[in-house]
Amino acid sequence: TSSWQDAIAVDDVPADDVVGVIVAGKDVAIYSVDGEIFASSNLCTHGNARLCDGFLEGHEIECPLHQGKFDVRSGKPTCAPVTEAIRTYPIKIENGRVYVAFE
Ligand code: FES
Repeated sequence: TSSWQDAIAVDDVPADDVVGVIVAGKDVAIYSVDGEIFASSNLCTHGNARLCDGFLEGHEIECPLHQGKFDVRSGKPTCAPVTEAIRTYPIKIENGRVYVAFE
């Protein structure tokens, strides 16, 4: 069963950008792309970097450390050196808040 966790106000997610939040002890990246919200683990699978410190272009997040890239919709790696996907999380929006589910 999934349990929704309140992550952030929709208004606090910058347009076409990424922000990092700690939700229930997990480091989560929240993305806004063309008005649509996505969420993933905030930790790069290649090294010790937070994706919220990287650069979002379209649906791709570029890691700040070695410029690997992931698709924020699927978590799949799209550019070397990353080879392992990041986890993505389902989101819902209710009363102006973004909720994420970890399971
Ligand atoms: Fe992210 Fe190396 S730590 S690409």
